[in-house]
Amino acid sequence: MKNFNYSIPTKVFFGKDQINVLAREIKNYGSKVLLVYGGGSIKKSGLHDKITGILKANNISFWELAGVEPNPRVTSVRKGAQLCRDNKIDLILAVGGGSSIDCAKVIAAAYYYEGDAWDIVLDPSKIKKVLPLATILTLAATGSEMNAGAVITNFETKEKLGTGHEDMAPKFSILDPTYTFTLPVKQTAAGTADITSHIFEVYFSSTKEAFLQNRMAEGMLKTCIKYGPIALKDPENYEARANLMWTSSLAINGLISYGKETEWSVHAMEHELSAYYDITHGVGLAILTPHWMKYILNDSTLDKFVEYGVNVWDIDKNGDKYAIANAAIEKTREYYNSLGIPSSLKEVGINEEKLEEMAKQSIRRGKLGNFRVLEAEDVLSIFRAAL
Ligand code: NZQ
Ligand code: ZN
Repeated sequence: MKNFNYSIPTKVFFGKDQINVLAREIKNYGSKVLLVYGGGSIKKSGLHDKITGILKANNISFWELAGVEPNPRVTSVRKGAQLCRDNKIDLILAVGGGSSIDCAKVIAAAYYYEGDAWDIVLDPSKIKKVLPLATILTLAATGSEMNAGAVITNFETKEKLGTGHEDMAPKFSILDPTYTFTLPVKQTAAGTADITSHIFEVYFSSTKEAFLQNRMAEGMLKTCIKYGPIALKDPENYEARANLMWTSSLAINGLISYGKETEWSVHAMEHELSAYYDITHGVGLAILTPHWMKYILNDSTLDKFVEYGVNVWDIDKNGDKYAIANAAIEKTREYYNSLGIPSSLKEVGINEEKLEEMAKQSIRRGKLGNFRVLEAEDVLSIFRAAL
């Protein structure tokens, strides 16, 4: 296992009615809040009324940045940073999924940065100071509620890039699984696929001695496999929503990646699909993942796929190793299909036209992966296989 520094500073309030701590927790940081949220789901569900009611009752002033897009734009970040400066905001409160949370994180960093907000996405080392932020999560998917990263899109330059700083981790996050009851089927499926991908990106690794992290990762995958379909069929099933929500946070907060080499190849590839075609992140991941697995399977990665097949899919360990590995990849594909996610790029409107350009762009920050290193031509092969 490699050395690591453990730091997961976000305070989590998990469960029904945990919103009761909201005013008390905000007051640790001040009394002027910027609410950041998406296109209206929180108004429909009544959560917006609930939050603003609590703020008013506790003399907490608030301003609002509404309409943050899925695949949040840098234009929203700029607007939010201006609102914070104009109103001397003490804390940013993101309410929603990864898009609202990521937007809030970069607003928080842009607040202290003198130049344009896009600079700190292109170069995270320019982030020196960050306003406190907190979250109320409504979609189990990205894990942004408990980590220090954010992904922002600039459609003018067709770029979707990750940035981060340790102080961008939320100060606190309220995780009430009942807030995910209203999710459309497509978002529940895409969110669950996103969680599994975060696990795969660190599970498939050349680091062999991280036994504990690997077993935790397998437990998280089994949780998604068990509860994803239940949440789809029975959206108000608390047990399913609660297990998915907690898995979303733990899958990408460092817990299962500490001490390991990590991949993050499928994410880099998918971010190109979203940057060029504005598709849903989890859908792109689910389409690419089985093809990526097939592509990286060879004699040097084989044992890891066998471990995956036997421990996660309960495939008989006595069979031929390649047969186990291929069966595990097939099970992965079937699982995503069972969630109702399309299985080809064509089905989400992507054709051959931009594949080469996207493949080149995907390695702009360097070759992808460690376990199996991918260059632009490898990415192109994976894209083509997924067409
Ligand atoms: O905008 P509203 O009206 O709120 O509707 C949203 C949006 O249309 C809707 N929604 C969310 N909660 C709901 C709900 N609808 C009904 N009931 C609810 N309870 O769902 C739609 C998608 O929301 P979004 O926030 O875009 O989804 P998600 O959480 O999947 O976030 C995706 C973004 O996060 C990035 C992705 O790339 C993408 O831009 N990621 C962030 C990461 C991070 N910070 O660590 C890691 C991830 O790998 C990912 O890249
Ligand atoms: Zn993701």
